[in-house]
Amino acid sequence: MDAMTKHETPDSAAKTDGQTAKKVFIKTYGCQMNVYDSQRMADALAADGYAATETIEEADLVLLNTCHIREKAAEKVYSELGRIRQLKKARATEGRETLVGVTGCVAQAEGSEIIRRAPVVDLVVGPQTYHRLPDVLARVRGGARVVETDYAIEDKFEHLPAPSRREVAKRGVTAFLTVQEGCDKFCTFCVVPYTRGSEISRPVSQIVAEAERLAAAGVREVTLLGQNVNAWHGEGPDGSEWGLGRLLFRLAEIPGIARLRYTTSHPRDMDDELINAHRDLETLMPYLHLPVQAGSDRILKAMNRRHSASDYIRLVERIRSARPDIALSGDFIVGFPGETDEDFEETLRLVREVGYASAFSFKYSPRPGTPGAEMGDQVPENVKDERLQRLQALLVEQQQAFTVAMVGRTMPTLLENRGGKGGKGAAPPPGPLL
Ligand code: 5AD
Ligand code: SF4
Repeated sequence: MDAMTKHETPDSAAKTDGQTAKKVFIKTYGCQMNVYDSQRMADALAADGYAATETIEEADLVLLNTCHIREKAAEKVYSELGRIRQLKKARATEGRETLVGVTGCVAQAEGSEIIRRAPVVDLVVGPQTYHRLPDVLARVRGGARVVETDYAIEDKFEHLPAPSRREVAKRGVTAFLTVQEGCDKFCTFCVVPYTRGSEISRPVSQIVAEAERLAAAGVREVTLLGQNVNAWHGEGPDGSEWGLGRLLFRLAEIPGIARLRYTTSHPRDMDDELINAHRDLETLMPYLHLPVQAGSDRILKAMNRRHSASDYIRLVERIRSARPDIALSGDFIVGFPGETDEDFEETLRLVREVGYASAFSFKYSPRPGTPGAEMGDQVPENVKDERLQRLQALLVEQQQAFTVAMVGRTMPTLLENRGGKGGKGAAPPPGPLL
């Protein structure tokens, strides 16, 4: 399954204040951080007089919040822009103007190239500058086509308006909360350090205030987000440096917060305090998304993951001894440059040894500007296909075994929304962040 597709939902986040309000349609691609960002953009635009709509035909502003992680994800944006061009034309014949924007990681990576390639686009805004959207729109209305992809020096979170209580309530009992963004790890396959920039951690006070607001509006489960969420660190009220474990303990004290999750983690940043949080905090769900990507030390080194397969397995053992019922999830890449049959067998061996409750697996996709794309020995597509099939067969088997092991167990549940008529259906479980 391509995990990139499952969160592609129009956002319904902004307030409606009457018939006259302008309308914005936001389509979200990619990871949970984009889902969160779309909501925050909707909040910023609500303050600027835009109500959210789920019907693209009635939108005065269409935003595509994009993903650049694999080629397929990026290409989808251009085909969608082709469809939007027709829509813009049709609305223009009725005398209605439609502004079109590309935001997110494709915006950051391709910048003005998007404007060149897709004349329908009026604005291109990167992930670090969403708080400037109202200003960008004012410039667009003045006749400019605007590309805003600087890594802003100001803190966007400080400048983004908080969602109203009514808005949060409308979004349901589960919510995302970005605590960390960006990445300094530079895995050789990954575009994130280039699209989201270097690591930043939001301060404790900002995070606690946002979580309190969510809880007060009825949210019961909060998933903390970050490309390297477990590298989060910040100064606590006592002046000492806190890590994610400590932050989780603090958030668990907030009345109303019944469940906490976090994603995505890097194996190198799982410290003792975080592992202890899994042991001691009932509020912290027994679930951990801990990507390993590959099982061969040679490939892990070429990927610049900076740990070996046995480091990962030892880490999993420590986590499991702290929280034996933890459901582990991971991300895997098959066909990284230079991966031999023997390297791939080692990935299968690692999967067998660890045992995953769920997992996401991808064919390596060379991304322009990353070291992996320049490496010799690229693996042919048919070999990648075959390896992906074998890996997924094993992962599906493990997932089924996990599900079967749950039969007959009684556990607390969180009612997310009504099923059946009028219900929205269950939200997807937290997948890979990207
Ligand atoms: N090709 C394939 N998969 C990738 N991922 C990241 N970059 C690439 C790429 N170039 C996968 C990794 C990561 C997940 C979010 O996406 O497995 O953990
Ligand atoms: Fe950073 Fe994760 Fe990408 Fe590695 S895979 S560069 S840790 S975002």
